[in-house]
Amino acid sequence: METQQTHVPQPARRRRIVVAMTGATGAILGIKALIALRRLNIETHLVMSKWAEATIKYETDYHPSNVKALADHVHSINDMAAPISSGSFKADGMIVVPCSMKTLAAIHSGFCDDLISRTADVMLKERRKLVLVARETPLSDIHLRNMLEVSRAGAIIFPPVPAYYIRAASVDDLVDQSVGRMLDLFDLDTGDFARWEGWEK
Ligand SMILES: Cc1cc2nc3c(=O)[nH]c(=O)nc-3n(C[C@H](O)[C@H](O)[C@H](O)COP(=O)(O)O)c2cc1C
Repeated sequence: METQQTHVPQPARRRRIVVAMTGATGAILGIKALIALRRLNIETHLVMSKWAEATIKYETDYHPSNVKALADHVHSINDMAAPISSGSFKADGMIVVPCSMKTLAAIHSGFCDDLISRTADVMLKERRKLVLVARETPLSDIHLRNMLEVSRAGAIIFPPVPAYYIRAASVDDLVDQSVGRMLDLFDLDTGDFARWEGWEK
């Protein structure tokens, strides 16, 4: 018997990206990613770990509540019933920025005891985009193994390493370049940084 394919029209919706912030240094990267995504009209779902809140306070002039105000939706890290914890919720991808070695290890082992590791696990099982802005230095064999195996499982490892060729005038320029390159991975152009066009004549 021939089966007929019926086309069910889907309502247009904004693209949705989950932004998770953890307690690695580099809170400003997560903050600037949220600002860029807001400007690009992307629906953001933010989850922050306890240590992300601590580093935001220590490293930046923002209060965690100001950072939360940049997102469309904020979910508690303990809320395992949040929509983003299910593959049936149509999130288009996730970025963990910055990503601590602890959260990397949780994602690597599939040990989903908080909403960040659970949502990352969902991204991998649903074959959706997962970018980990993994930050530590130097890297141990354990870190390197976890990165390699998570990368083989489908995640993109994006260490926030500065591009010195931009001859940045400020830390802000370096952060903008990093955030621009990480959002490139979602086919989003922040327009905030100079792209390499070959040696300047
Ligand atoms: C100021 C500060 C900077 C830190 N920087 C890093 C870092 O760059 N990378 C890392 O893996 N952990 C770093 N840590 C340690 C993590 O915060 C710690 O391992 C924490 O348990 C991570 O938990 P989370 O992933 O749930 O946020 C830092 C901690 C503090 C207080």
